Amino acid sequence: MKQAKSIFLIVFCLFATHYANAQTPTWLDISSIIYKNCTQCHSAGGIAPFSLVGYTNCKNMASSIASSTQSKRMPPWPADPKYRRYAHERVLNATEIEMLKKWADNDAPYGDTTIKIADPNQNNGTQLKNISLMLKMPNYTVNTSTDEYRCFVLPTNLTQNQFATALEVIPGNRSIVHHVLVFQDTSSIPTAKDLADPKPGYLAFGGTGSPTSQLIGVYVPGQEPFVFPAGFGTKILKNTKIILQVHYPKGISNQLDSTKVALKLTTSNLRQVLIDPILNHNNNNMTNGPLYIPANQTKTFFNKYYVGGKATVFACAPHMHLIGQKIKAYGLNANGDTTKIINIPNWDFHWQRTYSFYQPLIINPGLTLWGEAYYNNTASNLFNPNSPPLAVSKGESTTDEMMLIYFWYTSYQAGDENIVMDSLPLKNLSSVINPVKNSVNIAPIPANQSLQFSSNLAITQITLFSLEGQKIIEYQVDNQKNGSINCQYQPDGMYILELKSEQTITRKKILIAH
Ligand code: HEC
Repeated sequence: MKQAKSIFLIVFCLFATHYANAQTPTWLDISSIIYKNCTQCHSAGGIAPFSLVGYTNCKNMASSIASSTQSKRMPPWPADPKYRRYAHERVLNATEIEMLKKWADNDAPYGDTTIKIADPNQNNGTQLKNISLMLKMPNYTVNTSTDEYRCFVLPTNLTQNQFATALEVIPGNRSIVHHVLVFQDTSSIPTAKDLADPKPGYLAFGGTGSPTSQLIGVYVPGQEPFVFPAGFGTKILKNTKIILQVHYPKGISNQLDSTKVALKLTTSNLRQVLIDPILNHNNNNMTNGPLYIPANQTKTFFNKYYVGGKATVFACAPHMHLIGQKIKAYGLNANGDTTKIINIPNWDFHWQRTYSFYQPLIINPGLTLWGEAYYNNTASNLFNPNSPPLAVSKGESTTDEMMLIYFWYTSYQAGDENIVMDSLPLKNLSSVINPVKNSVNIAPIPANQSLQFSSNLAITQITLFSLEGQKIIEYQVDNQKNGSINCQYQPDGMYILELKSEQTITRKKILIAH
């Protein structure tokens, strides 16, 4: 009993300290949030327009930091974390968002100035070790007033098929490389297109413009290398060419880029991971195709794929163009149970990426995969490439549309469900992604015979503590939003009243005076 009490005291003190910190966060608390979630892009020479390295930069931007994180514009992470969680996520929880706001509201204090925070390590080089093949695109000087999507064709000269176990894109100029799609192709089409364009590479928007190109990787700034679990790899074909499709955003003048791609290859026979747009806009997969969106209309399209064998799925990557605004994938089995795969409620072509599952998704035979995509071909869609809107159909150019959901998958073997794709545990977002607020009213203060409480959430338990955190009495309440508790036998003084609901704990200081 005594032990239980002291454990409680410790927990209570921890809570109290934590709460005190949360009240007035300083740079000593804030810097780790910024360095874990922002400086991958917000550093000198990075893709973001300003650096958030160092106290002064962050202090100057404190209110923008607060507003961009409150609105969840930053850090960019288009997948809805309430739908499904992924490996290597970059998502803030409500506590972190609240701390950034409080810091800004309190004039961005440094805290104890005797403590120095080191600047974060910048990953400007290659992160993968023991690289087998490093390919570099030719130097290209970018001058563009519109978004430019340029494909660079890089021969591998491989004399036999091999397996890639890891892939990393190393942008040549981090301030202008917004995203990169990596393809392989054994046909001569990309080379022919390259020769036809006087500049290095050639222009192509959605894919490479070659029907035989196969997607093998997607990169956005700050993204870690894609590494397969041990024993798995994707097949890189003999004599294949790697095609890097690089997106340079509009408004760049005279900036040089020479982006590289690194592959770890092996000639050993591995379990082959296929990367295919299993859900796609081909007419026989669509339930309400063809993919055609008349001008000034919005439309939702569905496509489906019946899974015949048991599969292990490592990752997925949705792809649409500029008219697309939402995309979702899920599985439905014969009983009507849903497997949530991905939900992107605000599609942004510029922030497309690969989403690796935290643990592989195991799909049982008999599951039907469904894709659901919403297109807005009205003038209210700010990305609409046509003004006034024009009818849009399937195709590769900026003014066409697509609906593809790529899957990284292989056939299942026992034990695949135990693979973990990220060395860090998933952050707890449960209570906080949609911050549940418990607003509790307690009256009268001071209390004499009894205390009335009213709350927006059903209260399951009420406990009275001394100011030192010692438990005095526990009242059982049965999921009530209102009620009264008896305090006529408590000596006069200050107390802490704790009200628990399913999702929250609220503590209030109260005064009892008879
Ligand atoms: C993956 C790269 C990336 C990461 C990570 C990132 N940003 Fe950004 N940020 C950008 C880019 C690029 C812009 C320029 C506007 C745009 O393209 O959306 C931007 C713009 C901003 C802006 C100005 C515009 C606005 O939306 O208010 C603020 C403020 C900002 N970021 C704060 C942050 C903070 C704080 C974090 C971390 C919690 C963060 N960013 C993480 C890339 C990133």
